[in-house]
Amino acid sequence: MVTKYIKIDPRAEDMPELEEAAKALKNGCLVAFPTETVYGLGANALDREAVRSIFEAKGRPTDNPLIVHIAEMDMLPSLVREITPAVKKLTEAFWPGPLTLVFKKSPVVPDEITAGLDTVAVRMPDHPVALNLIKKSGVPVAAPSANRSGKPSPTLAAHVAEDMDGRISYIIDGGPCRVGVESTVLDITVNPPLILRPGGITPDMVKNVTGAVRLDSNLVKSTEKPKSPGMKYTHYAPAGDVYVVAGKQENVSGWINEKIRQDKKSGLSCVVIAATEHLKQYPAGTAISFGSIGDPDEVAANIFRLFRDCDSMGTEKIYVESIPKEGIGLAVMNRIEKAAGGKIIQVG
Ligand code: TXA
Ligand code: MG
Repeated sequence: MVTKYIKIDPRAEDMPELEEAAKALKNGCLVAFPTETVYGLGANALDREAVRSIFEAKGRPTDNPLIVHIAEMDMLPSLVREITPAVKKLTEAFWPGPLTLVFKKSPVVPDEITAGLDTVAVRMPDHPVALNLIKKSGVPVAAPSANRSGKPSPTLAAHVAEDMDGRISYIIDGGPCRVGVESTVLDITVNPPLILRPGGITPDMVKNVTGAVRLDSNLVKSTEKPKSPGMKYTHYAPAGDVYVVAGKQENVSGWINEKIRQDKKSGLSCVVIAATEHLKQYPAGTAISFGSIGDPDEVAANIFRLFRDCDSMGTEKIYVESIPKEGIGLAVMNRIEKAAGGKIIQVG
């Protein structure tokens, strides 16, 4: 398959360049598109065959359900069993935006999307290109992140091209994704609602609207089995070994510098991903910045790109400073810790 590329300025008023891709999307083709979180790999959610081809293109396990993307509230009622007052409040507060809601599903939602569950995840992305594409296609759009399964989510069209060129019909380039980590997944079939995956909408933001919210136990204690099927997979991982290092800063940099010296002796290539303000503390090796101390939004926007950059450099060992699990920092550290696959070092 030859993948077609379409470049769009997200600030454009109308987007006639999207017509062709929107039509193809409706007719069963796969189209990658930008959202405010990460790039998505879209298929017509009502077309079982198209939805199946997403799993094939990504190499995704079929027991991991997909999020359905909508562009207007009118698209919601047909997909879900009921729209409660809490849903109204949440969607008014956060849609379009990085919040995915898990509803009891309606019969029109194919089992291929929900992996056989009786719930369906829905969100309205806050990106003009995504909204325009969905509107022009006229159908709800099932879309996982547009990476090959197991790789870091794409935050640039070039990342999608790395993973998907030749496998899908269109890649729409709308520039870098603003948020950089995937949406918050909130199960509203239970009371109080339960955060299954942390993301751009923080627990406090949800709590301000719903009064109460809980975190899935695996987010509190990493040994627990996650309730969101996708969260059990070692996601987001670059090819090199990732180590998260936490503790007093001088101990963190001391530990990492020592590791770098050992790696160099063993002929291993290594990189430190650290706060801008700390880069000078790593004379032993190459240090790259994930953003400023105290700016978790910047770290969120950068982290997946940095993981991919490490892959391009053929890095074998990646040492990452930790950041406070506050605000979007909770989502950032969730992704970094998953990439580390348990290699979390507390240096005191
Ligand atoms: O920001 C995002 O959410 C991006 C963009 C493209 O919208 N999409 C995304 O999709 O991250 P994906 O497929 O990579 O992750 C979807 C997550 C998985 O952890 C999946 O298990 C969970 O949502 N999920 C989907 N449907 C669910 C359901 N019915 N119940 C529980 N979890 C569900
Ligand atoms: Mg994903």
